[in-house]
Amino acid sequence: KQVALGVDIGGTNTKFGLVNHRGEILAKGSIKTDEYEKVEEFIDALYEKVSPLIKQYFSEKQFDGIGVGAPNANYFRGTIEQAPNLRWKGVVPFAELMTKKFGVPCTMTNDANAAALGEMMFGAARGMKDFIMMTLGTGVGSGIISGGKLIYGHDGFAGELGHTIVKPGGRKHWSTGSEGSLEAYASATGIAITAKKMRAEFPDSMLNDYREEDIDSKVVYECAKKGDPTAIEVFRYTGQKLGEALANFVMFSSPEAILLFGGVIKAGDFILKPTKLHMERNLLPIFRNKVKLVFSELDEADAAILGASALVWEK
Ligand code: BGC
Ligand code: NA
Repeated sequence: KQVALGVDIGGTNTKFGLVNHRGEILAKGSIKTDEYEKVEEFIDALYEKVSPLIKQYFSEKQFDGIGVGAPNANYFRGTIEQAPNLRWKGVVPFAELMTKKFGVPCTMTNDANAAALGEMMFGAARGMKDFIMMTLGTGVGSGIISGGKLIYGHDGFAGELGHTIVKPGGRKHWSTGSEGSLEAYASATGIAITAKKMRAEFPDSMLNDYREEDIDSKVVYECAKKGDPTAIEVFRYTGQKLGEALANFVMFSSPEAILLFGGVIKAGDFILKPTKLHMERNLLPIFRNKVKLVFSELDEADAAILGASALVWEK
């Protein structure tokens, strides 16, 4: 036996890969997450896509199991619980449903935890024992590796750093209702909100050439590249909020590095520079100029697929 299915569930897209124990992705694919109102429909659709691949590449006997990374996943219970950016509400017994459909064991962890595991085993965090993975996409996720292990905490949900408060009494989260969370500012969703606010203040901004519904972090990046000061300010402000948050996280767990990962980091230095500046500025001097701030090495989806599949052999 030697093949696992790694699945990375995001708010918008789900990516999957068949992975061998050397960490090679033998085949991969994706489906839309937000197209399926019912989780059972989603699992059926995933099965339709995956089973021909399994048959094509392997005999069923080689199929060891499934590892899944998902928002608000609980490692202890194999559930997805009240995920703010998914359509499936309440407590979803996801691992159980997967096992029923695929006939093999299924292990789950948080999507950002899976990405952290993937980077530790095969990517930029190889050899590191203490680091924090931050995933900046539709939501903001994190995986905290301490002493070579993921922190799970008492109830298996540790490491939801995207929901920590970076501006007390600040922007209300569209789903959780919290006020001033990191996710409300530093996710792609948050960046779009910031951009819409700022372009209203600056009528000359290139951001005003777009329709309201088309404003997303990609558009902001395009405008920033063309030198639009408002778009550049959107990333600067985002980087400031992120950097302030990272300073807190550094002082909490003293990591060797912080890895940034996800769609938002395509903005490169527009976001990295202010992030670094505001992280360093807010650190206690004993922590300053020690923590590496790096972009993930692995292809965006691959880290999470690899990390999720590694769960299968870890157990
Ligand atoms: C969820 C996290 C997840 C992150 C990234 C957040 O809204 O609460 O569990 O890791 O989004 O998907
Ligand atoms: Na996490």
